[in-house]
Amino acid sequence: MMFKNIPSFPRSHALHGNVYMNAPRSAIQNISSYIFISILLCLSLTSITAQAEVSLKKNNLILDKKHGDDGSAWGNPRCDACHVRRNIHNSKAAEPIRDIVLYVGPESCAGCHGQNGTKMPQKCTVCHNSTLLPATPLIEDKRNHNFNVDKEKSLTDKNCLSCHDASDMDGDFELNVDLTHFKARAGIDLPYKNHTEFCLRCHNKDQQQPGFEMDPRFPRDPLVTMADNYKYIDKHGYVDGSGQRIYAGLRDDYEYGTLVECTDCHAMHGTHNQKLIIDRTDIGATLLEDDLRDKPVYIDVDNGDYAEHCVVCHKSKVDVEDTDEDTGNGMSGVHQVNGACTDCHVHGMAVQTGL
Ligand code: HEC
Ligand code: HEC
Ligand code: HEC
Ligand code: HEC
Ligand code: HEC
Ligand code: HEC
Ligand code: HEC
Ligand code: HEC
Repeated sequence: MMFKNIPSFPRSHALHGNVYMNAPRSAIQNISSYIFISILLCLSLTSITAQAEVSLKKNNLILDKKHGDDGSAWGNPRCDACHVRRNIHNSKAAEPIRDIVLYVGPESCAGCHGQNGTKMPQKCTVCHNSTLLPATPLIEDKRNHNFNVDKEKSLTDKNCLSCHDASDMDGDFELNVDLTHFKARAGIDLPYKNHTEFCLRCHNKDQQQPGFEMDPRFPRDPLVTMADNYKYIDKHGYVDGSGQRIYAGLRDDYEYGTLVECTDCHAMHGTHNQKLIIDRTDIGATLLEDDLRDKPVYIDVDNGDYAEHCVVCHKSKVDVEDTDEDTGNGMSGVHQVNGACTDCHVHGMAVQTGL
């Protein structure tokens, strides 16, 4: 289990293992509801064998209009009125989330199961916070992808949902389950082959997503040109680097010819660096050998000096200029260790250097 600090529950909690205890009083007084609830009881007894729509096997946790078998539970926000928390999530598959749901309570239901046809808020940070799930994801630092370059503010639940509208929360990050499906050109829902395709569904100029439109701040602003850069210019993208250049050389497990994902360099959830450059290797640099990545190596980027960042993957084979010099985070291997790299290395730079 990845979460910490969850107190143990008083035993008496388990005594409430009965639908009536949690049902609203008015409903119990109402005779027809009473019968209805009795039917629900029977239904829940048979539900073990019933064909579940909501299951990890189906990669789906979101309720639909059929909720409650005949749809009678659709539109009802009072999850606890019919489902007793002690009695749910007993499958092996649900084990990793069982305790945390017990602890956080009804506030959490819509975060995983959707709004059930209501306007109830879908909360994420009630669980994904530095107390309960400090490592998934690491969101301690202020700069993050909050969809606004000018604002530094914490991610809201709405932000999380923009990128993860129906995660299955099984502890295994799967591109096409855990990321929102943004339509590709011509409105087709093409599956993602990598994280980068997800980013490029928005960071392009031909087909921006409704509600997430971006205005270029200057010519060739990467905000809107990354789709082109990644296809035509950026050496980290779909264009293969040659490995024959002046300062060529990479660390183990990185190779010329591999796609470097946007998320290898940019942190979505939290970093102290400008431009959302990762500030520690364990939140990016996914191909880096485990020892080095998990250490982690820390990265500070100041005023266009990206040496600590580039050196995480690059290690020049030939000794030139500064290649022996520590960039500041204990690693060496780039041809320059201070000053602004951005004079020569930015996204979309067509000439010799580039990024
Ligand atoms: C009026 C009673 C009622 C309410 C309120 C209710 N449910 Fe249900 N729910 C049921 C019944 C009945 C079933 C089907 C039997 C079973 O699986 O227990 C069900 C099934 C489910 C399932 C499994 C669905 C499947 O397809 O396998 C989930 C998940 C669920 N409910 C979550 C919720 C959440 C979250 C809420 C609050 C938004 C909620 N329920 C509110 C009665 C209710
Ligand atoms: C962290 C995500 C998460 C949250 C929050 C969550 N659930 Fe679930 N729920 C699951 C998963 C995963 C399954 C499917 C387990 C499986 O495949 O067997 C599930 C299944 C269910 C089922 C189907 C039967 C069962 O017992 O497994 C019901 C009913 C249900 N949830 C109700 C709720 C209610 C009510 C809440 C709020 C108190 C809630 N869930 C909160 C993840 C969650
Ligand atoms: C701009 C899109 C975006 C936003 C906003 C976003 N995420 Fe993510 N998230 C991603 C991508 C892409 C990945 C996979 C790559 C990675 O981990 O960087 C991911 C991975 C994750 C993971 C699994 C990997 C890990 O680090 O544990 C969790 C958990 C997660 N996100 C939760 C959240 C929560 C909670 C929020 C809101 C507080 C949120 N995300 C906001 C895009 C986003
Ligand atoms: C749903 C659309 C969408 C997706 C998907 C998306 N972005 Fe963004 N991104 C935006 C918007 C909108 C902004 C803010 C633009 C503005 O303020 O003008 C932004 C800003 C950024 C910034 C600048 C942030 C800053 O504070 O300097 C970076 C870097 C970035 N995105 C990278 C990524 C990466 C990497 C991914 C994929 C993991 C990604 N984006 C996925 C819409 C998106
Ligand atoms: C009841 C607590 C709870 C709530 C509420 C919750 N999550 Fe999770 N989430 C979890 C747990 C537990 C995991 C698995 C973490 C692990 O194993 O490292 C998880 C995993 C994830 C992952 C990683 C992918 C995966 O399949 O494991 C993403 C993405 C994610 N959650 C996004 C969200 C978003 C977005 C929301 C709000 C809409 C949300 N979560 C609400 C508990 C919760
Ligand atoms: C996450 C690892 C990683 C980081 C960080 C990284 N690179 Fe790279 N870089 C690579 C890989 C892998 C390649 C080879 C890609 C290919 O061949 O398609 C590459 C290729 C290049 C190339 C093209 C080399 C050629 O032979 O064509 C240049 C130039 C470059 N990187 C510059 C930089 C600069 C400048 C930085 C810092 C701002 C940086 N890189 C940060 C992994 C990284
Ligand atoms: C005056 C321009 C200039 C500046 C400033 C500059 N570089 Fe470079 N960089 C180059 C040239 C030229 C190459 C080699 C391109 C070639 O061989 O085609 C290069 C290549 C690289 C590569 C190697 C890519 C590969 O695998 O071949 C890395 C890494 C790199 N630079 C990092 C940095 C860092 C870090 C900084 C800032 C501290 C920086 N550079 C500043 C011009 C510059
Ligand atoms: C090798 C590391 C690396 C990779 C891979 C990478 N970037 Fe960047 N990104 C940078 C650096 C360094 C900068 C700052 C220099 C610049 O503006 O070009 C930057 C700048 C940006 C900016 C401008 C942010 C701002 O606030 O001005 C955006 C947007 C962006 N990148 C998006 C992306 C997207 C989308 C991808 C994947 C398609 C991607 N990046 C891949 C390193 C990387």
